[in-house]
Amino acid sequence: MAFFQLGLRRTAAHISRVPVVCGPCLRQQLPARPASRVLKLVRAARRYTSTAAEAQTPLGSLSNSIAKSASSVAQTSAARSSGKTSSFPEVNDKAVGYWLIGSAVSVFGIVIWGGLTRLTESGLSITEWRPVTGSLPPMSDADWQSEFDKYRASPEYKLLNPHMDLAEFKKIYFMEWAHRLWGRVIGLSFVLPTIYFIARRRVTPRMAANLVGISGLIGFQGFIGWWMVKSGLKDDLFAPGSHPRVSQYRLTAHLATAFVCYGWMLLSGLGVLRTHRLLRDPEGAAKTFAALKSPTLRTLRGSVAALTVLIFTTVLSGALVAGLDAGLIYNEFPKMGTGYAPPKSELFDKFYCRKEDGSDLWWRNMLENPSLVQLDHRILATTTFTAVCVLFAYGRTGRIKAAMPRNVRKGVNGLMHLVLLQATLGITTLWYMVPIYLAAAHQAGALALLTGALVLGHRLRVPKATQALVRKALQNPHRIQAEAIGSKLVKKLTENKAV
Ligand code: HEM
Repeated sequence: MAFFQLGLRRTAAHISRVPVVCGPCLRQQLPARPASRVLKLVRAARRYTSTAAEAQTPLGSLSNSIAKSASSVAQTSAARSSGKTSSFPEVNDKAVGYWLIGSAVSVFGIVIWGGLTRLTESGLSITEWRPVTGSLPPMSDADWQSEFDKYRASPEYKLLNPHMDLAEFKKIYFMEWAHRLWGRVIGLSFVLPTIYFIARRRVTPRMAANLVGISGLIGFQGFIGWWMVKSGLKDDLFAPGSHPRVSQYRLTAHLATAFVCYGWMLLSGLGVLRTHRLLRDPEGAAKTFAALKSPTLRTLRGSVAALTVLIFTTVLSGALVAGLDAGLIYNEFPKMGTGYAPPKSELFDKFYCRKEDGSDLWWRNMLENPSLVQLDHRILATTTFTAVCVLFAYGRTGRIKAAMPRNVRKGVNGLMHLVLLQATLGITTLWYMVPIYLAAAHQAGALALLTGALVLGHRLRVPKATQALVRKALQNPHRIQAEAIGSKLVKKLTENKAV
């Protein structure tokens, strides 16, 4: 009871601070409409709070009036949303934003861990794919021996690690097992809340579609992971001269999917949090939109979008370098051997062709010849670096500088720092012949650089749906806030009910 009273007192204090329940709204006679889910919850809470015993106490009547206010706010909100027939809200719950950002951080972490797994050559230690039972590591000595025997039958063990003992095997097994377990945790901690948020109507229909899409992508990523590992266990890798490692194409697909998943989560989360921020101050938001609509920023916006694509392409080429161990040759920069590029005969070598007429010479070498793959990455990385420098210089020209909102200016500066760091990490990774700590930092830097570009692009663009919400909030200052605050009240009242 003490908890209940405390909760009600806090709720009462809160409602008295928020100016959303204005007189006209409360008095307004509304046409009958189907009750929204929020409204149903409010009514349920109200039924609870208006029990006879409580209604006779001052606290009971206070809780009744709170519930009434919440109800009328939610009702007003529902009624005024012209043509709104769906039970989904117009604004995502803020918790969804925080959860999405948290999930993106977790994906960032697993990307780094995946890089470490590759760099410590641990990725082929688990030779089976058991999505459910594989969650547990081997429990007994016999289990360990059985796992080790399976690994000993693999090309990697036979050709590269014939001297490995069980203790060493346990270390590489742990890296891969933890990577897979982390993947499962990401899957569950995304799919289960997705179901909850959609079922409880805490997200807009658009966000619901995004969440389902991301969930599907996470599942697909698990499949690609196994498809990649399988390519490193194939029997033809026993052939003399072959190097037992996973296909560079599949490694690139695995990394690219992780980056896309991360970017999707990040942008969705940032979108939710920004919408809430903008709705807290619709007048300020309108000014921000006006600043962003300035034609002066059009080129900048397009350039940032193109730069994001360029960074992503550089990432893909980096994954090819990693997949082919192409960082272990030509360990100097800016030169490659005696010149700035190896001889043409080496770059376009018929050895990599699979067609008699050599029609695949060009693209096979681009994707499979370590010398050319490294040169590609150098060229793309240098282009990325130059592009960011140009963007930075462009952002400092008087007209653009004056038109740029403060957070955009900060974003451009941040991107400049990130690309400097990333290029330095790339060059040192090459100079020192791919030590684990530098290569892992270089991979993290790639994701950080992409983050910088995505955040900058996000700051330069506001989706039409968000603009429409802010417009509505300006036309009717109470309506949109009412929906958010109405749902907060419902939450509080139902919490009190639970107590
Ligand atoms: C500036 C933008 C750059 C981006 C976005 C980028 C991105 C990447 C990515 C994503 C990888 C794959 C990492 C992995 O899967 O472990 C990679 C690998 C690599 N990059 Fe870059 N890179 C950049 C610049 C450079 C530069 C300037 C150099 C040096 C010339 C360089 C050299 C390398 C090397 C040697 C690897 C292979 C490392 C390994 O085997 O793990 N990168 N890069």
